[in-house]
Amino acid sequence: MDFAQGEFIGKGAYRDVYIHATDPGLVVKVQRDPKQDQNRREQRIWDERKELHKWLVPVLKVSSCGLYLIMPRGEQIKNNEVPQTSPRCLTDKGRKNWVRLNGEIKLCDYGQPKTYQKIFKVKP
Ligand SMILES: Nc1ncnc2c1ncn2[C@@H]1O[C@H](COP(=O)(O)OP(=O)(O)O)[C@@H](O)[C@H]1O
Ligand SMILES: [Mg+2]
Repeated sequence: MDFAQGEFIGKGAYRDVYIHATDPGLVVKVQRDPKQDQNRREQRIWDERKELHKWLVPVLKVSSCGLYLIMPRGEQIKNNEVPQTSPRCLTDKGRKNWVRLNGEIKLCDYGQPKTYQKIFKVKP
């Protein structure tokens, strides 16, 4: 699976997000600043914290340079669909960071330094 970018669908503070060019069920997240490490933090949280999986969109692949990430593509949700309660270690929980995936609401953006620090008890 490569990191081919199709249609642009979203811009966050650190990353530009595209539908995968050959699989519309996936997105490719492109980190704009190579000095940031948003994608690799997200990957480590997914790989090592199975107890959080029910809250998170899976990370399927990250490029070795860390600039590109692939995950399943979810749908936007409405304000009143944002979960009322969720683990406190997940820190950036505005409406735009949640999506609906296979009928469940999941966080698609969890690579923030603050989240990483809370989960691994070390400064990123
Ligand atoms: N898995 C996904 N499925 C659908 N849209 C997504 C997905 N991941 C991100 N997006 C969209 O792209 C935007 C930016 O992605 P995000 O991961 O929040 O980047 P950043 O870390 O820069 O905030 C999100 O607010 C959302 O609208
Ligand atoms: Mg975001």
